[in-house]
Amino acid sequence: MSEGLDDAVQKYVSSVESDAKILPLDITGTEAHVLMLYQTKIIPEADAAAILAALDRLRTGEVNLGSSIRNVEDVHEVLEAYISKEAGKEAGGKTHTGRSRNDQVALATRMKLRQDTRSIQEGILQLVSALLKLAEENVKTAIPLYTHLQHAQAGVLSHYLIAYAGALLRDYGRFGDMCNRLDASPLGAGPAGGSCLPIDRDATAKTLGFPQIVESALDATSSRDYIAEFVSCAAIMMVNLSRMSEDLVLWSSDEFSFIELADRSSSPSSAMPQKKNPDVLELTRGKAARVIGDLATVLSIQKGLATGYGRDLQETKEPAWSSADISAGALRVIREVITTMKINKNRMAEATESGYLTALDVAEKLVAQKVPFRQAHLEVGSLVAAAHAAGKPLAGLDGAEIRQACTLDPEMVAKAMAQCAPDRTAQMRTTRGGTAASEQQRMITKLKKELERLVQESAGRKKASAMEADKMRDTIRNLLDRSRRKND
Ligand code: ARG
Repeated sequence: MSEGLDDAVQKYVSSVESDAKILPLDITGTEAHVLMLYQTKIIPEADAAAILAALDRLRTGEVNLGSSIRNVEDVHEVLEAYISKEAGKEAGGKTHTGRSRNDQVALATRMKLRQDTRSIQEGILQLVSALLKLAEENVKTAIPLYTHLQHAQAGVLSHYLIAYAGALLRDYGRFGDMCNRLDASPLGAGPAGGSCLPIDRDATAKTLGFPQIVESALDATSSRDYIAEFVSCAAIMMVNLSRMSEDLVLWSSDEFSFIELADRSSSPSSAMPQKKNPDVLELTRGKAARVIGDLATVLSIQKGLATGYGRDLQETKEPAWSSADISAGALRVIREVITTMKINKNRMAEATESGYLTALDVAEKLVAQKVPFRQAHLEVGSLVAAAHAAGKPLAGLDGAEIRQACTLDPEMVAKAMAQCAPDRTAQMRTTRGGTAASEQQRMITKLKKELERLVQESAGRKKASAMEADKMRDTIRNLLDRSRRKND
């Protein structure tokens, strides 16, 4: 170009601010690439050593990029300029052999999202562990179950917690499935069509712990479906956390008073001294909306883009980073809320006893006496209406009232109602996934076992990736030592 960019244009096109998060990964990716260039004899050992030594100083913090990070297009440009300055133009100028910024940025982004996925998955396991611990303590804690936010059936608190433990383990699995596709190296794809030089893409993939490469150079550089998938997983998980947040907001209101949030996870009102606001939960709802918006951003950027790298793709990074940060943060704070909130068991029991939560159970008891379900449903409906009119619970109706409200044998009906005390019906629902303590305990045990397996799996993966990183460090150190000895 005959002239540099205008300052305002430079600022407008630069991604350097959001690139700060991928600088360490860009360094690692560059190290792997340079190692490969040396191993395939594309560049001599001395040049590789000069580049790797410069990168090592940067990685360890011995030097930093300082002001060179200003007024540039992106971090890849800064990194190459830094290497050329430190390692000399001759050696440094060889760094970018056989790659382009298009595969470079795709590589760093995949590496970052792979890391983010793993830490989000760890956060999920920690939250699930907290949910299951609380569930275990509350297999008999009565609570109303709602549909349409109306009293539906008498339940137990563990039933609610188990529901979300299951949903979050699906989130874990969804992130894992996504990561299997994301975990592929685009490095060495070049701008769009590969390279004439004998680079070894499989070697760099292996060094960086990728089980595979994204084969097509065009696909590798122009697709961002992996970002869309990552943000989708984040959005779905955030929706789960947001739903939970909404329940907890309701439960912490004066009207429900099922729980009291700990001071450390609620905020005071600036005006009303009596208030304790569930800001953390409200913000989780709010931030879920942002992640949903991030997904719309990422998809919209790609939908009309002509195939091949386009600078629009730069704008997919911010929504990806933001949804990763929000997800990790939400998992942490929701766990904090869950583990510190006070559970008001008396209030929950009171709410379970008021209303007519046992109506379906009474109908089922009549079904057991051979009454067709639809008829039982209608008859109990009339009984509820009569009880409601008399301001009594179902079991409070006397023989005459029963006879007046329904056509069934009053004795059979009275017996059915007596069997269905609100604190008992939850324990009578022993079907798979039902509210009976035996089922609750069985599900908790099963989920805990699954959790244990996933904790092991995640620890194993962490160890394997640390070993891969160590191996790469060793290779670089050996090369640097060898080269230093030659120079001495
Ligand atoms: N800053 C760019 C991005 O984030 C890096 C790739 C630039 N490639 C290019 N041909 N200008 O997407």
